[in-house]
Amino acid sequence: MDSFDRVVLVTGGAGYIGTHAVKALEDRGFQVIILDNLVYGHRELVEANLKAKLIVGDLSDREVLDRLFSTTKIDAVMHFAAFAYVGESVTDPAKYYQNNVVGTLTLLDAMRKHGVSNFVFSSTCATYGNPQTIPITEDHPQQPINPYGAGKLTVERVLHDYDPAYGLKSVIFRYFNAAGADPDGLFGEDHNPETHLIPLVLQTAAGKRASVSIFGTDYDTPDGTCIRDYIHVTDLAQAHVLGLEYLLEHRVSQIFNLGNGSGFSVKEVIDTAKQVTGKEISIEECPRRAGDPAILIGSSTKARQILGWEPKYADLAKIVEHAWNWHQHRHF
Ligand SMILES: NC(=O)c1ccc[n+]([C@@H]2O[C@H](COP(=O)([O-])OP(=O)(O)OC[C@H]3O[C@@H](n4cnc5c(N)ncnc54)[C@H](O)[C@@H]3O)[C@@H](O)[C@H]2O)c1
Repeated sequence: MDSFDRVVLVTGGAGYIGTHAVKALEDRGFQVIILDNLVYGHRELVEANLKAKLIVGDLSDREVLDRLFSTTKIDAVMHFAAFAYVGESVTDPAKYYQNNVVGTLTLLDAMRKHGVSNFVFSSTCATYGNPQTIPITEDHPQQPINPYGAGKLTVERVLHDYDPAYGLKSVIFRYFNAAGADPDGLFGEDHNPETHLIPLVLQTAAGKRASVSIFGTDYDTPDGTCIRDYIHVTDLAQAHVLGLEYLLEHRVSQIFNLGNGSGFSVKEVIDTAKQVTGKEISIEECPRRAGDPAILIGSSTKARQILGWEPKYADLAKIVEHAWNWHQHRHF
């Protein structure tokens, strides 16, 4: 399929996963327009490293969307823009339903109005809630335990209903923990505040934090700490390109998990970071946090079979090495 005349609107394209996805799309020959309100995005990374035009605007701004869709023929929308702090979604759920659900509905309205019917959506393993079976497959029951996961699940249900009613075809990706950084060092994780384990561990290794907290050391896992599935952000980005091409070619809605298929404990992540960085990393053992399951591992067999997706950087040391390379060169 020739992607050179295809235009993709990437919302949240100035954020962590979005920048990697835009790079992968451009490498594949797609033309990209980014819509990002820069609440968390990084203008300088887009301008320095990507060809994409950056429109600074909000998802919920109907005028911006109307102007965009009426002046450019857009073939598909890849929707990363959202708030993604699980803890904040519990203390301020309105903020999350407003941005992640209402904002997405506004975007979908604009797409319908302008006849754009291909949509790639960033969902999350948080839609599953506490796992009943491991590894988690796409047909696992969805019972989210926080407003962030509930909002993403609401959008999934909207997409389920919009397909037969309006012909809106979607590929939904439920990610496990995105991690790592661009192997060329152009992009990486720079959330503020940072809540993800690998960057917190690396900030501690770099002396920017006194210690890293381990929440719970008495779980029913080999070393007592929680096990999570870390997926390299470049592999995630690659899956989005494959998902988009699948959608454009087959026009069939699909849902895929995206994970590594293997889990690593908090202590394994810290040990790997010590080896990669050659630094000491102080830890602080803390009580368990409410709502943290012992083990979260996803099955990505479906994405491998249907999309032909093959993660290149499944090795934890590679994920940490790329993240460390980024941390050393980026001034936070
Ligand atoms: N990082 C993970 O491990 C992970 C896991 C599962 C799902 N996700 C989902 O992936 C997507 C991207 O996550 P990320 O880690 O790159 O986050 P991020 O915060 O780095 O990127 C999100 C981007 O969206 C922009 N944005 C937010 N609300 C907007 C709005 N109303 N209008 C325009 N732009 C807006 C932000 O400025 C930011 O650049 C999110 O939808 C998130 O829920 C992430």
